[in-house]
Amino acid sequence: MEELDQIVATAPSRIEAAKSLDDLETVEAELIGRQSKLAELQRGVGKLSDDEKPVMGRALQEARSAMQPIIAARRAELERRAADLLLEDDRVDMTLEAYRLPTGSLHLIQQTIDEITDIFVALGYAVADGPEAELSVYNFDALNTPPTHPSRAESDTMYLEFGPHDSALLRTQTSPMQVRWMENHEPPVHVIVPGKVYRSDTIDASHLPVFHQIEGLAVDVDITFADLKGTLAHFAREFFGPATTVRLRPHFFPFTEPSAELDVSCFNCDGGEASCRVCKGVGWLEMLGCGMVDPNVLENVGYDPEALTGFAFGMGVERMAMVRHGINNIRHFIENDIRFLGQFT
Ligand code: DAH
Repeated sequence: MEELDQIVATAPSRIEAAKSLDDLETVEAELIGRQSKLAELQRGVGKLSDDEKPVMGRALQEARSAMQPIIAARRAELERRAADLLLEDDRVDMTLEAYRLPTGSLHLIQQTIDEITDIFVALGYAVADGPEAELSVYNFDALNTPPTHPSRAESDTMYLEFGPHDSALLRTQTSPMQVRWMENHEPPVHVIVPGKVYRSDTIDASHLPVFHQIEGLAVDVDITFADLKGTLAHFAREFFGPATTVRLRPHFFPFTEPSAELDVSCFNCDGGEASCRVCKGVGWLEMLGCGMVDPNVLENVGYDPEALTGFAFGMGVERMAMVRHGINNIRHFIENDIRFLGQFT
């Protein structure tokens, strides 16, 4: 009996001391299992006197009943902790910053081409592209450019070793597409041609040997210089903002007569502040070349220069983007520095 009291008295602390379900199994076996003291005493009951039998029997039953709920409670507790541990392992920390997959974006030059193209498409212009390897006939001769013109020098133009000497080249301008387009389309024509052009230039802050132009051409009956100016003024307002104004300065191009350069009012200082970082105080920004299509060019493509007139223009895409975004070095466009490109996504 004393031994039994001792077992029951120490049982709660032994059960509490079980730190795992395995520990608890062991303790349970020791307290009430088949090898336990309790079981041993149980087996001895038969040998007791008739008086002692029920007393011992009841005592053993009570001891068992006292310990079982404590074991059950501890088991429940340990099971809950094990489940909590599993949950803790599986936990996802929703407060962690999400890992963002880097996605690409269009190069600023392509974005600029798309935007300018859209402005003219809205006016009803078609969009064309043409060969970068071009014939001198298209790049120069049909564009009324005489054999002696300085732009034809090998110091300016990259000729290809193809056909007769200097007969093929990497186009120096998108203008040859004026000729190709008119050769293949009946008037009226309204077309713009974005694309790469090539010149033997050494790389510096404002020159690349490969850059982009957008050519424009409109030919119809009764197209006037006013149409040219109105179209380009509209373009300038769309691209640089509604307050933009334009002016035309006389210039020379072999394939237009008269020819002009188009300036747009400085969108930064709005009129020639000496300290303006964009126009350097001039108030105007040189934008593009343009003019009325020379009758010789119309004649070269088989159009009737007596019946038809037209205007043409050509702009540098890099220059457009540089002026608009305050980019001071054309090299940024080809260096593929993500810190530069990422500013224009
Ligand atoms: N092709 C000329 C250049 O590269 C730009 C140009 C000027 C295009 C006048 C034109 C034009 O269509 O009419 O400098």
